Amino acid sequence: MADRYKNIPDWKADFPIKKTEAGYVARRDFLKVITLFSGIMAAVNVFIPVFNFFHKRKVIKDYFVCNASELKVGTQKTFYVDGDHRNPYMLIRLAEDDWRVYEQKCTHLSCSVIYDHEHGMIECPCHHGFFDAKDGKVLQGPPPRPLPRLNVVVKDGKIFVEDYTYEQQINHKAHS
Ligand code: FES
Repeated sequence: MADRYKNIPDWKADFPIKKTEAGYVARRDFLKVITLFSGIMAAVNVFIPVFNFFHKRKVIKDYFVCNASELKVGTQKTFYVDGDHRNPYMLIRLAEDDWRVYEQKCTHLSCSVIYDHEHGMIECPCHHGFFDAKDGKVLQGPPPRPLPRLNVVVKDGKIFVEDYTYEQQINHKAHS
């Protein structure tokens, strides 16, 4: 034991803070933690927009998915654009000439969604969220937003996808 603790009882050496100072120390430590936490939060708030700025998703244009003959009516296929496994997409064949592509992540807590051909819906099994298979809108449950979609282009029996533009959304609303 160090010399300075020689004449001090064991219990006092273990707790070297005076009782009257204990509250002050606790407050000071608490302020340190709060300051550190605020600093971390401020850093995260700066980091996220900067990260998003440098990691914008690439524009999707003429991305080949598969041959149309690979998918029967009523089935789905999962694929990734440019091997980006963070963003799975699902290609759905609603009818002979009717295709849709949506992100396969639920807009609630990102569970993987499943196409239900019989009911014309896309279901999230985690909290029973349901989306309309025709436009991805939320029909029921906790998802806050429709499923993001891509536009499908069929050329010579091949399926290609591209970003679903604002104009396509407007046209879709006008025809539905
Ligand atoms: S994660 Fe899909 S409904 Fe909750």
